[in-house]
Amino acid sequence: MSTTTAPANSAEARRRLADTLTADGALSPGSPWQRAFAETPREVFVPRFTLTGPDGRREVGPGAPGYLDAVYTDTTLTIRRDSAGTPVSSSSQPSLMARMLEVFTVPADARVLEIGTGTGYNTALLCHRLGADHVTTVDVDPDLTTSARDRLASTGHAPLVLTRDGTEGHPEGAPYDGILATCGVDRLPTAWPQQVRPGGIIVTNIGNGVAVLTVDEDGTAAGSFLPDDAMFMRARPEPGHTAPAANQYTGLVMNSTGDSRTERSPLPADQIVHATAHEIWMLHHDVLAMTLHPDGTPVHGLVHPPTGSWARITQDGDQVTVEHGGPRDLWAERLDLTAQWTSAGRPAPGAYTLTVSSCGTHTLRRTGTSPMSWTL
Ligand SMILES: C[S@@+](CC[C@H](N)C(=O)[O-])C[C@H]1O[C@@H](n2cnc3c(N)ncnc32)[C@H](O)[C@@H]1O
Repeated sequence: MSTTTAPANSAEARRRLADTLTADGALSPGSPWQRAFAETPREVFVPRFTLTGPDGRREVGPGAPGYLDAVYTDTTLTIRRDSAGTPVSSSSQPSLMARMLEVFTVPADARVLEIGTGTGYNTALLCHRLGADHVTTVDVDPDLTTSARDRLASTGHAPLVLTRDGTEGHPEGAPYDGILATCGVDRLPTAWPQQVRPGGIIVTNIGNGVAVLTVDEDGTAAGSFLPDDAMFMRARPEPGHTAPAANQYTGLVMNSTGDSRTERSPLPADQIVHATAHEIWMLHHDVLAMTLHPDGTPVHGLVHPPTGSWARITQDGDQVTVEHGGPRDLWAERLDLTAQWTSAGRPAPGAYTLTVSSCGTHTLRRTGTSPMSWTL
């Protein structure tokens, strides 16, 4: 949030946040979500958090200098990490929350399921608009649901807050008018369209975009993506789960021997290895990327854990030396994907549509001047 003076109090800070989100186009003027942001105190849901900025990580708690200003910054406030230090819960960036809520076009009396309660702040916004008795929210982590339930109660909301794996939805409450997920998935869980009524909506992060899907009579979910990149913390199967971090595979990348070749690279290797393009995420969602500096020189790695495929890439000018092993040639695949995406004009997520059939087949389509389709 760009403010010149610190807010005097929560009400002023909230109003400023809502105004900023509206001025930036994340909220529509006069939308019910604008009032929800202006009247819901974010600080109740994030008494303590970590801010990550150019100077590194900063722990912020009540009474810290600039606490209220920090709470109402348009940024992600991390509240929980796994044992490897990867963030697993946060209050998401308000502008992204706002954009998702604005396209979550459910009627005012809709019954909805939220996946990923986290702090409970987004749940409170849903309750503000729809009424708490129309909102069910689930999180996989019992500590989070317990504190979110308490915090929601302290702001006057008593939605159904459940601890469970949200990828299974909550069939007992189905059908819903909409499902809003604030944790990311690589593929749409089959339970979600099954639990949304025909004509209902699913809004969720898939790949590096936010999908807005409508469910039809036969259970197909189809729609498009919001214009810009967006990546949420991934859904985890259980609270203590530690995601397979790239650094778990440094030994595989650094110590393995395999086939070797030297070739020209069309782009700096790190841009190919750490690609964030939506279609590359969708197609290479389970390929881990890393860059190591064993003797000061960068060594890039790609690993596909399910097959044990790995690649080690070092760059010298426009040449790369690629060593790799396992059934997949990950560097060659990544080069092809990058070339396809680049020749299509580097489209952002808004250029894609997604159709998920009732049996779970995903079809990703790139629209525009270079149309393309993939069955995932
Ligand atoms: C970005 S945070 C959610 C932000 C939240 N909506 C808020 O306003 O604070 C993502 C949340 O998804 C939860 N989560 C991860 N995997 C899940 C799963 N399988 N089922 C339900 N929730 C899950 C995490 O525990 C985390 O709290």
